Amino acid sequence: MTTPAGTTTGPLAQDEIVVVGAGVIGLTTALILARRGYRVHVVAKNLPEDELDQDWSSPWAGANWCPFSAEERVCRWETESLARLRELIPMGLAMPLPVLRYAATDSGLHNHWYKDVAKNYRRLRPDECPNGGVGVSFESLSVNAPVYLKWIEAQCRALGVTIVRGDVAALSDVVKPMTRVVVNATGLGSLTLTDVLDTAVEPIRGQIVLVRAPKVKRCVMDSSRSDVDPTRSTYIIPRPNSGGVTICGGCYEVGSWERKADSKLSRKILEECLVHVPELSSDGTVEGMDVIRECVGFRPSRAGGPRLEREDRAVRGRRVAIVHAYGIGPAGFQASWGMAKEAADLVSDAVLESAALKARL
Ligand code: LAC
Repeated sequence: MTTPAGTTTGPLAQDEIVVVGAGVIGLTTALILARRGYRVHVVAKNLPEDELDQDWSSPWAGANWCPFSAEERVCRWETESLARLRELIPMGLAMPLPVLRYAATDSGLHNHWYKDVAKNYRRLRPDECPNGGVGVSFESLSVNAPVYLKWIEAQCRALGVTIVRGDVAALSDVVKPMTRVVVNATGLGSLTLTDVLDTAVEPIRGQIVLVRAPKVKRCVMDSSRSDVDPTRSTYIIPRPNSGGVTICGGCYEVGSWERKADSKLSRKILEECLVHVPELSSDGTVEGMDVIRECVGFRPSRAGGPRLEREDRAVRGRRVAIVHAYGIGPAGFQASWGMAKEAADLVSDAVLESAALKARL
C-alpha cells in the first residue's frame, strides 16, 4: 500500500495510534493498546517527570480507591481498576489500606454500590460515625501517583511506545499520514484544544498538605459535613513508596483556578485530620506535625460526567477516528484501567473498521 505521502507502510504502520496526554488515562490507554500490538505514539504537554507542575492533574492525585460516583459506567471502570490495582500490591506499587469513610447520608456513600467489590465492607454503627452521619469501613488501596505514572510510562516504553513532549493546540495537528486513531486524553486540556473546546470541562480545585507520618497506615475519608460546606472534605491518605508521606486534605472547589495555597485552609485541614488520626503528629498538636508542603491541584472534571466516545472526522481529506477519554474528575486513578480499556476498545473498533473499508476498496 502507498500512502499519499508516498511511503510504503506495513500492517503495523497502518495501525499507528496517537495518544494526546500522558496523565493516568492517556498512559494507561497507551499501555493497553501497546499490549494489543498497536504501534502507539504519545504526545503530551506534561510528562510523568513534571511532578510539581500545576498545569496538569495526575501527579497531584490522592490516588486511593474510594468511589465518588454511582454512575453505572464509572462503577464498572472502578470495579475493573480495583482488580488491576490489587495485582500491583505484591510489587509494592500499591499499598493495601483499611478505610473509614463517613458521610452525611447514604447517598454520600454512593448508596454502597461497592459493598461487594471492596473487601471486608461493613456499615458502621451510629456511635462510630462523626456528626450524626453514616459510615462504612472496607479494605482498599492507594498508589503513589508520581511513582506509579513513571512505572506505567516505563511499561509503555518497554513495549515500544514513543512518548514525546509537545504542546498540542488542536487534535488534528497530531494526525500524520499513518495515523488511524487519535485518543484525546488531555483532561482539562479539552477546554482549550481548538478543535474540541468542550465548555463542560471544569477544574475542581484541591488543596492538600503533605505530612511525613510513617506511623499512619489507614485512610479516612470524611465528608460528613458536606451539608454545611460542600467544598470541604477531610481525608487522610498514606502514600506507598514515599518514605512515610501522608496526604492530608482537602477541598473540592468547582471552577476555581486559584493556584496559590490558602494557609488558613491548610491549618484547618491539619486540625481536622488530626482529630481522625492522632498519629499524624508527634505530640498530638498541629505544631508536632512534620509538614513537607502545601499543594494545589486541579481535578480534570466535566459537568455531566466523563466523555468516553468516538467521533469520526475528516482531517486533511482522510477519515480519522478520535476517541475522547477525559473528564473523570477526582476518580482518575481508581477508574483508570476500566476507562482506558473501554477507550482502547473504541480504538480497536475504529482500526478494524478502517481495515475492512480498505479491504473493500
Ligand atoms: C482527591 C482524592 C481524594 O480527589 O482522590 O482529592
